[in-house]
Amino acid sequence: MPNHPQHKPVSPERLPALLRAMPKAELHMHIEGSLEADMIFAMGQRNHVRLAYPSIEALRQAYVFDNLQSFLDIYHAGTTVLKTEQDFYDMTDAYLARAQADNVLHTEIFFDTQTHTGHGTSVVTVINGLHRACADAPARHGMTASLILCFLRHLSEEEAFECLEQALPLRDKIVGIGLASSEVGHPPEKFAKVFARARQLGFRLVAHAGEEAPPAYIWSALDVLKVERIDHGVQAIHDTALMQRLAKDRMPLTVCPLSNLKLRVFPTLQQHTLKRMLDAGIVATVNSDDPAYFGGYINENFTQTFAALGMTSAHAYLLARNSFDASFIDASLRSQYVQRLDAVFETFE
Ligand code: HPA
Ligand code: ZN
Repeated sequence: MPNHPQHKPVSPERLPALLRAMPKAELHMHIEGSLEADMIFAMGQRNHVRLAYPSIEALRQAYVFDNLQSFLDIYHAGTTVLKTEQDFYDMTDAYLARAQADNVLHTEIFFDTQTHTGHGTSVVTVINGLHRACADAPARHGMTASLILCFLRHLSEEEAFECLEQALPLRDKIVGIGLASSEVGHPPEKFAKVFARARQLGFRLVAHAGEEAPPAYIWSALDVLKVERIDHGVQAIHDTALMQRLAKDRMPLTVCPLSNLKLRVFPTLQQHTLKRMLDAGIVATVNSDDPAYFGGYINENFTQTFAALGMTSAHAYLLARNSFDASFIDASLRSQYVQRLDAVFETFE
């Protein structure tokens, strides 16, 4: 692990409190995946959208998944209640309040427009609602937030180009471009041209790769799409040369442990490879992915994973520090956030 300031070890009993208190950034969270079941029902009612589930409880009970696709099907049903700019604002504001409670100082929020344009909602409605909530984040929640537009990889590259075109008038409201949805069978290279165009336009680039699909998907996200972070990336553990490459290039991985557990990427949290990746020098971060569906926001991901893997306060510092280092904020904000991180670790000594 790299040399960071030495902190006195924190006792195992105090570690959960440290994990909750430490300032952090969240870099992998799909805003539509933060829509809680009660909010889905409330929005469904106000927008006159009928759901296939009779009650909030019945919907929550359906949150049992075999793999990524079984999740995406239910996640998609939840998105049908989103209609107005205010809906997108309210969803984002609710997530920001929840993230602030977990001491998230900065978040880079994934959203997709193709889901919503597919329901007849305009790109302008989606982006303006999300962006207004992000712009209000410093005043309302004492934190910063930016937006990453994800193409849906089960759709064509031509449709991704259309989506990019529609978003361009709102370009200043988006920091980056990502790639999400059904992974296997839709490798990164399918989107080579549209990512090259996004790069030319000055967007920061990320992509989901190696969540369920093999290491080859991570290689092509790096070498063909030229991304700056890999989302998930946990399948890299099966490829020694790739692990060395990721460590050498300090390529961040946005890991989502409870997502991996709920989508059965790992049978148990004890078998999660986060600790092995950190110990191999990989710049990993911890994130919640779709917290309304996977059983916890970011602090729950930290506390459960640390308990399962026996990680220490040195791992905690490293993960929090990595989250700021891997974010797309400017150098002066980054150094302010790292100072706040260091101050919390000092108070725990
Ligand atoms: N993987 C791919 N696409 C997604 C996910 C995920 O975990 N969550 C929401 N869209
Ligand atoms: Zn994701």
